[in-house]
Amino acid sequence: MDEIIDEILKSKKFSRLGKNYVKSVVKQLYDSEELSNKKEFKALLKKVKDFLHKTYTVYQISNQKKKEYLLGKILKSKSDEELEELHSKILHCHSSTRERKEIYSDMYEEIFRNIKQPKHLLDFGCGINVFSLPQIGFKNFEYIGMDTGKEDVKQINAYLKFSKKKYGFSGKGIEINAFEKYYFKQIPKNKFDVCFLLKMADVLDYGRRDHKKTEEFITKVNAKNIVVSFPTRTISNRKMNNPRRNWFELMIKRLKYKISYFELYNECFYIVNKN
Ligand SMILES: C[S@@+](CC[C@H](N)C(=O)[O-])C[C@H]1O[C@@H](n2cnc3c(N)ncnc32)[C@H](O)[C@@H]1O
Repeated sequence: MDEIIDEILKSKKFSRLGKNYVKSVVKQLYDSEELSNKKEFKALLKKVKDFLHKTYTVYQISNQKKKEYLLGKILKSKSDEELEELHSKILHCHSSTRERKEIYSDMYEEIFRNIKQPKHLLDFGCGINVFSLPQIGFKNFEYIGMDTGKEDVKQINAYLKFSKKKYGFSGKGIEINAFEKYYFKQIPKNKFDVCFLLKMADVLDYGRRDHKKTEEFITKVNAKNIVVSFPTRTISNRKMNNPRRNWFELMIKRLKYKISYFELYNECFYIVNKN
């Protein structure tokens, strides 16, 4: 197993994921005790690389250096106009936030139309969503953003210190690996008013034939409302004819939670109410 991990970490695009994370992925995909020949070794190496690409690197449009540079400028900037431009540029660095750049304020308006202004927000698999929060439309809340990747989390933390003074919201970033068996224990236990699970169900259920991991997350997370989104375009970038996820709607019905739905640009959203 060590050989595979070393091989993966040699690649520049995966090295920053860290040894522990790569190890957990190899463990998850590693179903035979011994890799008896080179072919099996290569096949597993490919499987792990595909997985890391599809669940992580594919979303990172710009490199870490660029984000660091932009964040550094944000933290020093005194001009509202410049800050707006820098936020827009940093949101461009991740595929999901790039798509939403122009629609964030509409998205938040739609989400919070029927939800009382929250005090505690959890964003699971947050990516760089934190940089959209100045557009959320209210202040005085605490945001917890969880994602894999130490450096991303460090940046979230640096930003949330700055945002407290500048925009009136604070919080922290927490590193998490949803592929670890007991990952859920790391999620803070306090009650959240809203939990975002944006474009994350497919990541949670990656490699499975069922949606048990998403279901487990939805039932276990201590949140009144959970906002779950899915892309409305296929991998080949075709608009889906029917983007609603039947499996998800049936699951929520079976769990007897309330649900509402809306679509915006290339994404569809479910708001699940557990109370
Ligand atoms: C499609 S992106 C969604 C990001 C964000 N929710 C958004 O919509 O802007 C998927 C996110 O899952 C994160 N991710 C991948 N594997 C993960 C894991 N094992 N544990 C936690 N997060 C993970 C990636 O880093 C990435 O930020």
